[in-house]
This record gives sequence, C-alpha cells and structure tokens, in this order.
Amino acid sequence: MPTRKRFFLTTPLYYVNGAPHQGHAYSTILADAIARYHRMCGEDVYLLTGTDEHGLKIQRAAAEAGLTPQDFCDRIVAQFQAAWKRLGIQYDAFIRTTEDRHTASVQRMFEVIRKNGFIYPGKYSGWYCVSCESYASEASEENRNCPDCGRPTEKLTEDTYFFKLSAFQKQLTEFYRDNKDFVLPPTRMNEIASFVKGGLRDLSITRTTLTWGIPVPFDPKHVIYVWFDALNGYISALDYGTDGKLFKKYWPARTQLVGKDILRFHAVYWPAFLMAAGLEPPRQVLAHGWWLSGGEKISKSRHNFATVDELCDLFEPDSLRYFFLREAPIGGDGTFSLDGIIGRNNSDLANDLGNLASRCLKMVETYFEGILPEWFDQEGVQPGGDLREFSRETIRLFKENFQKNNISRALENVWELIGSANRYIVSNEPWKLARDPAQKPRLGTVLYNSCETLRVLSVLLAPIVPDGAQRLWTALGCSGKVSDVNIVKLGWGELRPGTRIGAVQSIYPRLEREKLIAAIQQPEPATIGNSEKEQPEKNKKPAEEARAANTSARVSIEEFARIEMRVGLVKHAERVPGSDKLLKLQIDIGTEVRQVVAGIGKAYQPEALVGRKVAVVVNLNPAKLMGVDSDGMVVAASEGGKPVLVSFVEEVKVGSRLK
Ligand code: MSP
Repeated sequence: MPTRKRFFLTTPLYYVNGAPHQGHAYSTILADAIARYHRMCGEDVYLLTGTDEHGLKIQRAAAEAGLTPQDFCDRIVAQFQAAWKRLGIQYDAFIRTTEDRHTASVQRMFEVIRKNGFIYPGKYSGWYCVSCESYASEASEENRNCPDCGRPTEKLTEDTYFFKLSAFQKQLTEFYRDNKDFVLPPTRMNEIASFVKGGLRDLSITRTTLTWGIPVPFDPKHVIYVWFDALNGYISALDYGTDGKLFKKYWPARTQLVGKDILRFHAVYWPAFLMAAGLEPPRQVLAHGWWLSGGEKISKSRHNFATVDELCDLFEPDSLRYFFLREAPIGGDGTFSLDGIIGRNNSDLANDLGNLASRCLKMVETYFEGILPEWFDQEGVQPGGDLREFSRETIRLFKENFQKNNISRALENVWELIGSANRYIVSNEPWKLARDPAQKPRLGTVLYNSCETLRVLSVLLAPIVPDGAQRLWTALGCSGKVSDVNIVKLGWGELRPGTRIGAVQSIYPRLEREKLIAAIQQPEPATIGNSEKEQPEKNKKPAEEARAANTSARVSIEEFARIEMRVGLVKHAERVPGSDKLLKLQIDIGTEVRQVVAGIGKAYQPEALVGRKVAVVVNLNPAKLMGVDSDGMVVAASEGGKPVLVSFVEEVKVGSRLK
C-alpha cells in the first residue's frame, strides 16, 4: 500500500496568561479547517496545538493570581483544552512546554546547537519588553516604549548565551530564494527576506533574571529564553527529545500557522535554530491577519476580547467557524463583531443554504413521499443553468482555492453554487410541475439535481461547518459520516434514486439579534442541578432554542396573528449611555407611549428619528437592555447586519395594526 501523504500542521503554542479568546480561536479554527480538508483528501494529517507556559509574563500573572506558576498554568491549560472541545477542534496532539518531554527536547537542541558551534557566552544589555518577552532594539533612554506593543520597556544587563544568528544570513537568504512559498502570503515573504537582507544580530537566548523556565543543562543559573523554548515545542511534541519516532514520520512540518505578529520568530529564528542543529526547516509558514475591533487588535491587554466560552454560550461552533473563515482572507485583517457573526449566519447559513435545503427536502417529501426520485437525462437540466456542470466546476475551484489557502474564496465558490441551485429551482418551478402528472419525470429530475447539489455542498462544507454539513448529509438519506467522504474523488451523481431521505429539519436556524443582546446582558442563570437535563430552558443557547422551535418552518395565520405590530410615532430618542448601538426611544403607539430600546444606534442618529413613524411589536415580553427597560421592538430589515427601519409610504394613523 502506498504511504499516504503526510501533513503535519501546527497552531502557535498559546500563552497561558489568560483565558482563550477569539484571536486564539481563529488560529485554531483555521488550523482545524485545513486539517479536516486534508484528512478528507486522504492525507495522513497530524494537527498539533498546545501551550507556551514559561517566562516572565506567566510568572507575573501567576503571582497576581496568588498561585504557583505551575498551578496557574494547569488551570489555564484546562480552559484552553475545554475551549477546543467546545469548538469541536480535532487535534491529534497537545504539547505543554512544562512537560518533561519538552524539557528534554529543548535541552537536547541547546546542546546540539552548542556542539555545532553556534552558541557562545557573553553579556547582554538592553531594553526588555516584558509583555513581548523580547528586547526592543529600537528602544532608547529617550524613548523607552516597546515599538511592538507601546508599553514601557525595562533596562536589563545580564550574563547570557548568544545564538549566532548572524552566521545564518546567507543560508536563510538562499533558503528563501529557493523556497518562494516558504512564507505565505507572498507580501510577508518579501518582508521577511528584506529583514534578513538588512543584517542579522546574534540573539540572546538565555536569561538569568527569571526562574520560571527550562535551565541551561550545563549552567543552570541560566534559564532558556522563552521563544527558544516555545518554538521547540513543535518538535518536542514529536518526541524529538526522546525516541523521535514521530519526528522521523512527520518532520518537517508541512504548514505552521501563525499570526502576523509572530511571523519573524517562525520564519527567521526558528529555521535558523533548526539549521544550526542540522535539521530541516518547516516547509511553509502561513501568516494570518488580525481580528480587529474598533480598528484595534483584539487582545487581553486591550480588554476588547471575548473569551471562547462567552462566544460559545451565544453561538454554535459552526456560526463562529463560518464567520472567521468566510469574512476575511487568511492574510488580511478582519473586523470582529457580533453583528458580523449574526449577519453571516442569517444571510448565508440560514437563508441561502438552510432555505435551499429545507425547500428541496420538503418537496421530495411532499411530491415523492420522501423517496429520492429518478432523474431522466432527456428531461435536461435546463432551464436555470446546468447544475451538473456548475457543481463539477465548483468542486474544482473549491479544491484549487483551498490548496492555495484561499479559503474565503473557496467559500465564495460554494455560495455561487448555492445561488445557482436556488435560481435553478425558481426557474424550473417544481410546484407548477407537480400539478401536472405528465410532468412527474421532469419534476423528479429537477429535485434529484437539486438534492445532488446539496450532497456536493455538504461534502465541500464539511471541513468548514462540520455540524451543519453532517445534518445536511443525514437529511439527504446518506449514511455514515460526511467527513469520511474522499474530497479528491468527489463527483456528480452519487445520490441513489430510491433512497429514503432523512427527517426534514432546519439545517441552520436564524439568530435573533435582540435575543442575543439580551442574553449578553442577563446575569448568569442559576444552576438548578448538575445534570444537563435539569438545566432550565433559559440556559439553552439562542441557536439551540431556535432549532428547537424550528424557526424556518412555516407558521399558521393564527400563529402570526399572535404577534401584535402597530404603527408608532417616535416622540423622543436618545443614546443609551455606554453603548454605541442602543437607542432609547419613547414611542406613541396610539393607546400609550412606550419605552423601547433598539439596537439601531450605528445606523441612525437619535435626532433623525423623532417624528418618524415606525412599526413596533407591542406584545413582546418586556426586557432590560444594558439595564434599561424595553417594552416593545421596532421592526427593521437587516442589510448585511445593518438595520433598515420599516417605514410607510402612504399616510397611516398612529396605532394602526400591521397584518
Ligand atoms: N506564545 C506565543 C506563540 C509561541 S509559538 C511557538 C504567542 N502566543 S499568543 O497566545 O499571544 O498568540 C497566539 C496566536 O494568537 C498568535 O498567532 C496571534 O497572532 C493569535 N492572535 C492573538 N490575538 C489575535 C487577534 N486579535 N486576531 C488574530 N489572531 C490573534 O504569541
């Protein structure tokens, strides 16, 4: 049997100075999607993640928490592992830099590099940034601030061991020249190459000023510099320090995924350390951008982050994964916002994909008693475009883009196919074909083609939104796991006519913004018992609730009539202090003036609303938003997450009911 292509993929090893947040989630989700895709290509994937636990930053965070560094690390590491479990990350190995096998590996590397003549003792004096764990060469007496994070640096002089980085300038330059894709995207490769061209200074790789780290084996008053320590985690996880079996199998790494802020460590220092030890550098370092909020990088130190737990309390993993992978191309920065996640979920997953799925499946149920119909070639696939060809072309483009790490583009390809399938259904009007028994073969063909497109979609989407892709796969009557399908061999026409489709369920429910906002404002619900069953209803995630309520299902006129909407006149409007989204409105609804808090503050100025007629849902349960009472809801459309208020063209009386 031929050996399968090996694909060793790594995430950065995360600092454990705080709970995992959305920046960490992004790196990990991205790696997980890439790993899932390559597994579906039949490759021997080994995904490594882990934690970077040594250094001053952690030592200080532990002291602040009143814990020993090890206890502190243990607690935070448990949070990281729980976070990855909640997000459904399928990693193969987890390395902690406080493990013995890691210590053995780091010490071995240190010894080997020294024996090879690239480590020497000396004295180092410089401006040290505790936050970045590195000396800031640009800082000076006049300007002590760290050029990377802006925080003040500290002057330190210490005995140290240097790594002869300068000796690798030529070798690195040649390596970049011969491996043009070593760093992706290409602009980052250029930056790295010109940095190295500008000259390399030797690197201080030990500290005598801290204790929380791995001692230099022959001179234990020195502790190994945290970056030398952490980078080695990638090979200590392969047991480089002990038996090295996994190392022989998987090194060099195929892709090392990093944020752009830590690219230099991975694309300059790390290959130099490896070269100095006589080992191969990784094949590729893929640098992703940052998620920003209000134009700033999201980070613990900027207090603008949400923990993975907070996010998972609000959203299903698929909604988060889809947002991260679709919203920004890998190298670029993206804007992180709840509205962005809700918008992507509702417009792409619930509307485009979810509606396509429920529409097709319901028609198979109604017109063919849930049995997948035969298709007839002579009936053709026109009008509405050739779905077969479109699907085949989408599979090709998707794979091509995924291989090039253009994941957001690959998803655009998928959504183009969804659009095409929706158009195909509209132009073939199966509901009309169903009225004429003579058209039954044609109706069957249209539905078969639509369902087969859905099958193709479920396979392509499996690495991105694994839960929904599996729901769709099962609903189509396919057995087993969609993730077991080989994406390389994916083609058209594998759904078997005569198969009974699964229960029609909503693949992706819509998320209600107001409910999510209210869930954020609500205090933690009291726990009634330990078992999951005993959890109160309101503990359910909004997304779960929506699925339970099957929001995309139709409602009867009686059910609709329970929602009382009336024309209201805005008498007064002001901003809710501390929020740029919420407005507090006083609205005359004919019988009384109601106070309503609306999340429209980014799209509307309060002054512009006074005197305007709006549609108000008047029989909602009252709620508190950011501590302000709200008794009603103004109705608005959502345009890519931006609210657009419902308004009236003709004259209408305040208090009139909307029906
Ligand atoms: N411990 C080092 C990595 C050592 S690897 C041998 C480290 N850890 S970190 O926890 O600070 O960051 C880890 C990763 O999370 C980095 O790739 C970083 O880019 C990413 N992110 C942290 N905040 C981020 C955003 N706001 N947006 C996107 N990713 C960001 O650095």
